[in-house]
Amino acid sequence: MAMGVVVLQNVWKKYGDVEAVKNLNLECKEGEFLALLGPSGCGKSSTLRMIAGLERITLGSIFIDGREVNALEPRQRDIAMAFEAYALYPHLTAYENIAFPLRVRGMREQEVDRRVREIADTLDIGNILDRLPRHLSGGQQQRISFARAMVRPARVYLMDEPLSHLDAKQRSQLRSELKRLHRFKGLTIVFVTHDQIEAMAMADRIAVMNLGVLQQVGTPLEVFNHPKNLFVANFVGEPPINLLSVTVRQEGQDILFTGDGFMIAMRDGRLAAAAAKLSTSKGVLGIRPMHIALHRESVSPHSIPGNVTLYEGLGDTAVVTVQVGGNAVRVETSPDVSVSIGERVFLQFSAAHVHLFDQDTGENLLH
Ligand SMILES: Nc1ncnc2c1ncn2[C@@H]1O[C@H](COP(=O)(O)OP(=O)(O)OP(=O)(O)O)[C@@H](O)[C@H]1O
Ligand SMILES: [Mg+2]
Repeated sequence: MAMGVVVLQNVWKKYGDVEAVKNLNLECKEGEFLALLGPSGCGKSSTLRMIAGLERITLGSIFIDGREVNALEPRQRDIAMAFEAYALYPHLTAYENIAFPLRVRGMREQEVDRRVREIADTLDIGNILDRLPRHLSGGQQQRISFARAMVRPARVYLMDEPLSHLDAKQRSQLRSELKRLHRFKGLTIVFVTHDQIEAMAMADRIAVMNLGVLQQVGTPLEVFNHPKNLFVANFVGEPPINLLSVTVRQEGQDILFTGDGFMIAMRDGRLAAAAAKLSTSKGVLGIRPMHIALHRESVSPHSIPGNVTLYEGLGDTAVVTVQVGGNAVRVETSPDVSVSIGERVFLQFSAAHVHLFDQDTGENLLH
């Protein structure tokens, strides 16, 4: 059986009474860019630090290249690490900081220089190499620290929010560079972030965690289009998915959804099968802002009326918030659509884009 480069088997991390990671099974394949995504405190860093060997594994096993590494020191694991805190050597220039991991491995001077120049070029830091860390901005220090992590060959690159101190433009630049490096060199990367846009933009697969528990692993499109549960649906996507509490009833071939301020009927085999799986008659209807059409007139008996309460122009799109009963529904529209606050509008969406979640378990019944 082919094994991933990094394999976690039934891994637990406990700090006293705190269960930071619960029974995690996960693998990162050869040449894969795997993102660990989740809110603050969900156990991302604990997971990464266990892979790195900076944190003891409470229970379970971690394998790198098929070898159990539980008892191995970080330096015995053939990993490179980039963390949010830069921890540069203050008395060394940026150049010497980057060269450090190569020098301790006894690499020839000429090869050291070639590698440092190459990574500096890629990360656009060639002009600050002779400076000491205290003469660099936070963002520059982070790029130097990132270069130091990337400069040497390693089996796996472990990164914990390495782009957090950069401004928006630098971030998106470095994202592209990292993605390019990954593709071009076939690197295997485990990347921790709480920023779903970062994960969506870079990762081959995303592992979504919450409260120490892995919720779903999949490609960015899989987690976006087929979220396994309410948590994943809600965490991935910006603006976030609309979640409407509904009572579900079958009426002939129609499925009837009744919520606060609306009632809609849909005729769809998939949806009917999902509705049949509900543990009670209560469910949660999920529909993404991008999948709702906004009309100024009632175009069909299936549209939902509401009142505009907020308009946010974002340049390339606009987000309109529409009050439907007690629900504030977000709709993504073209910025050319002009609506005024208080205006009455009609919302429409197709059954193909609807998710139905069980209210008790949170499970996506269409998944
Ligand atoms: N050394 C420690 N001692 C006790 N509890 C800890 C320790 N490190 C982490 N924790 C707890 O373990 C849980 C997971 O922490 P972890 O740092 O892995 O989360 P995270 O997902 O990386 O969060 P963030 O996005 O804020 O960095 C949290 O509840 C945290 O308070
Ligand atoms: Mg963390």
